[in-house]
Amino acid sequence: MKPTHGDYVLGSHGTELDRLGVQHTLWRDLMLDGWRRAGLGLGNNVVDVGAGPGFATADLSTIVGATGSVTAVDRSSTFLATLQARFAEPTSNVTIHEVDLMREAIPCPNGNHDAAWCRWVAMFVPDPALLLERIDHALKPGGVVILHEYCRYETLSMLPRRSEIDSFTALASKSFRAAGGEPDIAGVLLATLVRRGFEVCEVRPIARGARFGDPLWQWPAGFVRTYAPRLVELGFADAAWCAGVLHALEAAEQDGVSLFLTPMVLEIIARKPVERINS
Ligand SMILES: C[S@@+](CC[C@H](N)C(=O)[O-])C[C@H]1O[C@@H](n2cnc3c(N)ncnc32)[C@H](O)[C@@H]1O
Repeated sequence: MKPTHGDYVLGSHGTELDRLGVQHTLWRDLMLDGWRRAGLGLGNNVVDVGAGPGFATADLSTIVGATGSVTAVDRSSTFLATLQARFAEPTSNVTIHEVDLMREAIPCPNGNHDAAWCRWVAMFVPDPALLLERIDHALKPGGVVILHEYCRYETLSMLPRRSEIDSFTALASKSFRAAGGEPDIAGVLLATLVRRGFEVCEVRPIARGARFGDPLWQWPAGFVRTYAPRLVELGFADAAWCAGVLHALEAAEQDGVSLFLTPMVLEIIARKPVERINS
């Protein structure tokens, strides 16, 4: 199954939607902590960039309250249908826009935004500088952007190492690049923000690991279980490779010692300049 227009390389089917929900639950505390340090709160107008099915949108909606607003943008009509159903009430403070950010700007229904949240989106776009330009234009002067994107994807690995999992990580990276993205995008984003004159308030590498039985284990394990067969569908590997990867994962789940390292995320909190010289 090749990605179609409006789809992204991981797909937007029910399994991926469920995976994004689990992923959101397991990363939610770190997300909320980043938002708190960035100063998000009641009355803010916030854009959720590449909102997907809207798990973070729901948290943003609660945090900004009735006097604030959330602009949720994504290009996937499938994910946006879930978002529409979730925020259907007329009193909702969420507005939803089907936007391909490589083609169109972020709509600003309530004037420019106080903040932008963007997680695991820049890694999929062919032009991350354009994505940051969109975010920049959607922010008011002094507005803040909070990014959670990968900086060292190859850290997705098993301790002790299992070559099948290393092979999975390498092929997953290859598939992201073949679809026009770049998994190790966070360093590029940081440099681009600095060049655009943003003040970098915080940069934090987030390294995590889980043993079998920890709730976090299911995140990398679930990704391997859904994406290894997808890599076969996409033509990157054959069924025997997939069986080997899944067998290695099961072995790690039974050996009583393995630690699953997750891909390292870089949290960037940066503020748009209040005034731009020569702009
Ligand atoms: C891994 S999901 C992350 C969703 C959400 N940010 C989260 O953290 O749960 C990546 C999202 O980026 C969206 N996306 C990818 N490229 C896009 C583009 N060019 N314009 C708008 N959305 C895009 C996809 O449709 C998908 O919903």
